[in-house]
Amino acid sequence: MTVESPGKETQVDVLRESTRRNLDALIARDQSLIACPYPTFADVREIGGVVYSEPLGAWVVTRYDDVRAILRDTERFSSLSPTGPQAAGASLMAGIAELSQDPTMAAVLGSVSMTRGRAAVLLNADPPDHRRQRRLVNPAFRPDRIRALEPLIESTASALMDVVVDELNEVGEVDIVARFAVGVPMTIIAHALGVPDHDLGTFKRWSDDIVMPVGNHDPSVDQVRGFLVSTKQFNEYFLERISERRRQPTDDILSDIANAVIDGEELSDDEQLGMLTQFLVAGNETTTKLITNIVRHLAEAPDVARRVREDRSLVEPLVEEMLRIEAPVGGLFRQAKTDVVVNGTEIPAGQHVWLLFASANRDECRFADPDVVDIDRPNLREHLAFGNGEHFCPGAGLARAEARIATNVVLDRLDDMSLSPSNDYRYGDSFVLRGLERLLVRARPV
Ligand code: HEM
Repeated sequence: MTVESPGKETQVDVLRESTRRNLDALIARDQSLIACPYPTFADVREIGGVVYSEPLGAWVVTRYDDVRAILRDTERFSSLSPTGPQAAGASLMAGIAELSQDPTMAAVLGSVSMTRGRAAVLLNADPPDHRRQRRLVNPAFRPDRIRALEPLIESTASALMDVVVDELNEVGEVDIVARFAVGVPMTIIAHALGVPDHDLGTFKRWSDDIVMPVGNHDPSVDQVRGFLVSTKQFNEYFLERISERRRQPTDDILSDIANAVIDGEELSDDEQLGMLTQFLVAGNETTTKLITNIVRHLAEAPDVARRVREDRSLVEPLVEEMLRIEAPVGGLFRQAKTDVVVNGTEIPAGQHVWLLFASANRDECRFADPDVVDIDRPNLREHLAFGNGEHFCPGAGLARAEARIATNVVLDRLDDMSLSPSNDYRYGDSFVLRGLERLLVRARPV
């Protein structure tokens, strides 16, 4: 043995130890790691790309080629638990057990267990069911359907911008998350699901409560209560809307789902509710985070803002580059159906992998200078922010249209944007979904 090798090993061990500590802190939802997880992901990529995380109960997969290959391999990897291993739901179950002692929660618990968690749809389905379900929902997101939604996206973004401008004139700064980035996708998905405007506030509360367990392994009893109550209300509301659409179909996604027949069979209530829940959660949170990230970058990089303002064909590359560099969905899970080897690491059948889109998107082997925002990057559309393969996000076209239109409205109406010194840059409490809770912006309305 040379004198050099123990030294090298020690270095790797130190790297491994600090990387592991950082990963553990991320899973424990330590704000500093949520705010800046990228150096830790880079460390994992450097030391082989795959490490096991005890608190997560899963293998963390960080390199672009591995993440993409697993996403495309539905033969050997299952999507049945895309938000994490079953064990991770233990604290949700603990909360439910505690609440089951509360007589006022009996009806809620009964109703939720009747309708939730039994159907495998879309995100948590495997082929062949998954393929049949995608054939059903894909037409709802066809380019012509999205083009038809563009006037609504435009008028929604403009109306929200009126409020932003008023607040800037009166107060001098505005929270772009609360006043703009939440409202654009929320209004559009609510419209697509046939939710009237006066129910939007309730719809937002359901969205927040229902998404809570994603990336939060130790929710409080109150959070679990909110999750259950909102799930019950969401289910009741939509079961009613579904029967209305069965009696009287209209031209919206809700009617498509309510009247869907796959291979001669209607969808069950549970399958329909599962799909609607995924549209609610996936359609809102993610796009809000994307729009917020774009506005933040425009405020932080005046040169980019100037270039994009003058040449609006650059809005699309900006949207793609922000998806790459700040993936709103940091990563999702798969379960190995058989023993597999990923980059030299043996993963036994039944174990989970956490596919880190956020890391793959900054893999130096795929993207030159990965930590730099570069809207001229030749391969900026190769990011994995929308996944890849059979589960590739069906809402990608809609999200892109919303982000493009929202960005154009921001550029049309606001100039000299900057970030307020009062920003605390606090991120949402999740290790899966990553986005700022608020973003105070100053700007000159034009
Ligand atoms: C910036 C916005 C968005 C991001 C970053 C995003 C991200 C993703 C990702 C990464 C997946 C793949 C999941 C996997 O492989 O397990 C996915 C799937 C999905 N997304 Fe999106 N999404 C966005 C917007 C939307 C919108 C607007 C909708 C609908 C209105 C939507 C609905 C869905 C659904 C239903 C699935 C499951 C598809 C399947 O498993 O076959 N998403 N999304």
